[in-house]
Amino acid sequence: MACKLQTITLASNGISLPRMACKLQTVTLASNGISLGKKNYLTPKRMVVAEVSAGTANEIVTTLAREKPFPKLMSRQETYDGKVTPGKFGRFGGKYVPELLMTCLTELENEFNFLLHDATFQGELETALRDYVGRETPLYYAQRLTEYYKNDNGEGPEIYLKREDLNHCGAHKINNAVAQAMIAKRMGRKSVVAATGAGQHGVATAAVCAKLSLECTIFMGTADMEKQASNVVLMKLLGAQVKSVTGNFKEASSEAIRNWTGNLETSYYLPGTVVGPHPCPNMVREFQSVIGKETRRQALEKWGGKPDVLVACIGSGSNALGLFHEFIEDEDVRLIGVEGAGFGLDSGRHSATLAKGDVGVYHGAMTYLLQDEEGQIVGSHSVGVGLEYPGVGPEVSFLKETGRAEFYTVTDQEAVLAYKRLCKFEGIFPALEASHALAILEKLAPTLHNGTKVVVNCSGRGNKDAATVFNYCQRDFTMHV
Ligand SMILES: Cc1ncc(COP(=O)(O)O)c(C=O)c1O
Repeated sequence: MACKLQTITLASNGISLPRMACKLQTVTLASNGISLGKKNYLTPKRMVVAEVSAGTANEIVTTLAREKPFPKLMSRQETYDGKVTPGKFGRFGGKYVPELLMTCLTELENEFNFLLHDATFQGELETALRDYVGRETPLYYAQRLTEYYKNDNGEGPEIYLKREDLNHCGAHKINNAVAQAMIAKRMGRKSVVAATGAGQHGVATAAVCAKLSLECTIFMGTADMEKQASNVVLMKLLGAQVKSVTGNFKEASSEAIRNWTGNLETSYYLPGTVVGPHPCPNMVREFQSVIGKETRRQALEKWGGKPDVLVACIGSGSNALGLFHEFIEDEDVRLIGVEGAGFGLDSGRHSATLAKGDVGVYHGAMTYLLQDEEGQIVGSHSVGVGLEYPGVGPEVSFLKETGRAEFYTVTDQEAVLAYKRLCKFEGIFPALEASHALAILEKLAPTLHNGTKVVVNCSGRGNKDAATVFNYCQRDFTMHV
């Protein structure tokens, strides 16, 4: 091949390869069969460690400058529906970002695609999920809740809870945080930046950064810091710098992204949910999909079949997609997402993006958003602070548009009642976000056949919300379970 040789190095295994000045599509190492993606995978930082002679180079490089696509792991949904291409879900998703960020996002995407196939990374992640996060989480049969929903004939659905609240740090957020922090470390980043609403993602990120010796800065809205004060204390104890931003999660997210764009070389933006430009939504969903994979296995063990109905709250969609994604092709499994109706859908104070929003572009992707006539993002409200983002992930918008999932809303009051109900019947205190998913059972359960297997994602633990629930009930004396 009449190409000019340069030297490049793969940080992950330290192997040096010749870089051709000609079009470099895919490089395969004959010795171990590792494929190394497109040329933009190879960033300047990774170059030049040792010279390789042209002869050696020709021996080890078996595939070069050929139109061979990088072996990307196609998600279940990407294969099941031709309308879904990497980074786009129908008309939703994409990368609506300044040119400045494109290289960075492409580098991240290539790293992610590589690590999906990297046995070492996958092994390390499996160990971290088991020994640090505490997976697998139980699929718990909620016997008394099941009894509560039986009709006069003693018939009703069987209610199971996927106990993400039992994860280390108290929510599903750590499934993604631990994986992405490991990626940050591999990419040689010194620090991690994140935004948090309810504080669960902030705590999870601070914890994994401590574990991996990464500096950690968490942006949080002033309103949220007040409501979720216990999580602010935890983040600080875990060594994170907590920066307050006037507003709530929306403003905190913007500020975190702004901070990251000023330090692209050294810092890693760790998104906590399935929003933002590609590849962020895919990455978060992929790392959360462990929830659904476990659920399938556990259902098979417990009753020898699949769940009939899956229910999850929708803030932006990470716990919902985490549970749903495994079952997207199982069309006999109903997928139900529950948004926060706050003070009511007509109150103007809710977070019901899918019920009341329109399509637009925000934080780098096209999706459903709460916006005014001029396209300006409007504030959202929910008693479950983690639901207060004025948008949803693009894949969630796609599930709405294709009709694959159903979406409903519950009010603050209904969610608080559901919190109390789970405390009373099962001795479990769910996060107020998860209480939205539990609350829909009031309307859903009477419509289901006897013995229908319903799995509700108990996405988090409600310690952080105890004072809110207590105060809410003191204010509203009509509230009984
Ligand atoms: C416990 C819990 N559940 C759900 C959510 C909503 O986020 P997502 O829709 O991404 O799962 C949050 C957000 O902070 C949360 O803390």
